[in-house]
Order: sequence, then C-alpha cells, then structure tokens
Amino acid sequence: MTRTDSTKKLLRLYPVPSQEIAINGLYLAHRAHELGRPGLPFVYANFLSSLDGRIALEDIDKGLSFIPKHLTTDSDFSLFMELHAQADCLITHGGYMRALGEKRLGNILQVTDKDLLEWRRINGLPEQPAIVIASASLNFPIHSSLLETKQTVYIATGRNASPERIRFWQAQGFPVLSAGTDRMVEGTPLLNILASLGLKSIYLIAGPKMLDTVVRDKQLSRLYLTLTHQLMGGNDFRTLLTGSALGQVGNLKLESLFLELGSPAGAGQFFAQFSLPCCFVTGK
Ligand SMILES: NC(=O)c1ccc[n+]([C@@H]2O[C@H](COP(=O)([O-])OP(=O)(O)OC[C@H]3O[C@@H](n4cnc5c(N)ncnc54)[C@H](OP(=O)(O)O)[C@@H]3O)[C@@H](O)[C@H]2O)c1
Repeated sequence: MTRTDSTKKLLRLYPVPSQEIAINGLYLAHRAHELGRPGLPFVYANFLSSLDGRIALEDIDKGLSFIPKHLTTDSDFSLFMELHAQADCLITHGGYMRALGEKRLGNILQVTDKDLLEWRRINGLPEQPAIVIASASLNFPIHSSLLETKQTVYIATGRNASPERIRFWQAQGFPVLSAGTDRMVEGTPLLNILASLGLKSIYLIAGPKMLDTVVRDKQLSRLYLTLTHQLMGGNDFRTLLTGSALGQVGNLKLESLFLELGSPAGAGQFFAQFSLPCCFVTGK
C-alpha cells in the first residue's frame, strides 16, 4: 500500500487563517500515539460520508452492504492509513473478518507501507498494532495475516455470548474479553479492559454499530470525517450511527477542516476533525 502523491495539497479552512498544506503527513502530525495516558487511552475513528449522509449502500437481495468505489479517493485512503499507523490497537469486528475471509474486502489489519513502518519504529510503536475483534455471534474466521505477523488478537464479546463459541476461541489461544452485559460489546467495559491492558492509542476501524457503541458510552475522543462532495442517493443505505437519538452526547467540537478540490474528479472533499468534549480524553 503506497501513500498519496507527495505534491498533493489541501487548503486549511479552519482554524483560520487558511493555508495550503501537504496531504502527506497531515494526520501523522497529530501524534495520536502520544495523546493517551496510562489507563486513559485515546480512542479515535475515521469515517467517509457523502453529502447526503450515506457511508455505504445496502444490497438487500444479497444481504450485504458496500462502499461504492466512486466515494473513495487516494487522499482519503492515505490519511486513513496515517491514522492507522499511529495506533497500538485496532478495533474491528466479526463482520469484517467474514468479509476478509470471503475476499469481499481488502486487508487493513496491518501497516504495510515502508515509510509508515519506519515511522512506527522511530516513534516506539510495535511493528503491528494489536487487534480487537468485536463480535456477538463469535462466528468468523481468523485471517491468515494475523497469524503470519503474530499480532496480538483479542476477541471482545458480551457476557451472554455462546459459551461454546467462547470455549472454541479460548482453545485456539485467543483471549476473549467479556465486555457487555448481554451478547453485544459495550463501550465502557471494552475501553476499561483495553486501558488495563496498557493500550493507549486505539483506532476504531469498525462500522456504524461499533461507532454507536463507543460514542453512546462517551468513549470516543476524536472523530475524523471525510465529507465527499457527492450526493449518493439510494433507497437502502447505512449512515454513521445505528441507535436511538443521542442528545447532548452527539455534540462535537470542530478542531480542523481541510478542503481538497477536484478529488474525486468533478467534485471535492472536506477532511474534518472533531473532538468530543464530553469524553474523558480529548487529546487536549
Ligand atoms: N464509509 C465509511 O467510512 C465506512 C466505515 C465503516 C464501515 N462502512 C461500511 O458500512 C457498512 C456497515 O458496516 P460494517 O459491516 O463494518 O459494520 P456494522 O454493520 O456496524 O457491524 C457489523 C458487525 O460487527 C459486529 N459488531 C458491531 N458492533 C458490535 C457490538 N457492539 N458488539 C458485538 N459485535 C458488534 C457484529 O459482528 P457479529 O455478527 O460477528 O456479531 C456485526 O455483525 C459496510 O458496508 C461497511 O463497509 C463504511
């Protein structure tokens, strides 16, 4: 996986005064790995949304959702990987492991870019992040790359998940974290356990259900949002969150806003960074 063209520039719109700035290194400069404290991890997520608030479309017949290719750009993916490189832990989920197993999605469980690997080495991060797989069903395959790289893998589930499936994973040597009162993982117990394991920069690369889980429990420190200047439409779609109305917990504070023109072709995109002032680590 390579990084984006090093000559590409963005325009910072906020904070003012506006300024042209290189895309390469933009998010690496945030040093997320230094923002957590022992027992208080810095938890961040990154989503890509259309102007009409869609993050994916649903194929109801196949029972699958997908991100249309035209929504994505090299710049967005490159910044996603810069955030990925700053994590000592990635939170993913059972659905992604199934999609990987069926080759429906590409593998983003490892840092592969040589500059980013070198950046991690210089900054004292382990070569690869630990992986947390959140799952209520506990029915998913383990991707071979996790075994090849010997990454630490935790499986997180709720207390009422199938005891048989829990025993299955434990027998394979994977620690199963009990982080919820029913079958689902809940944000507070999960982040408490990850904090107790000494993890400090935790990147949520999961979907809307896990975003909802951590936001609702006030465990998200920062949200990165790429807003592509495209109207997606579609009758069946996914948006950022899944649960009931959030109220005050959903109030975010804009920290920065960048504009890229002409990407994707014929449109543009905003790269926004929000802190969640209600959360226990805001990175300040
Ligand atoms: N545009 C974007 O930035 C963006 C970002 C992320 C995802 N997406 C897209 O959005 C669509 C839906 O997202 P998704 O499939 O990644 O995620 P999702 O529908 O939110 O969740 C999928 C799976 O994650 C597990 N899970 C989620 N929350 C959990 C919890 N609290 N406790 C236990 N397990 C939990 C469950 O696995 P089990 O079934 O194993 O229990 C669930 O089936 C996909 O098309 C995806 O590609 C877009």
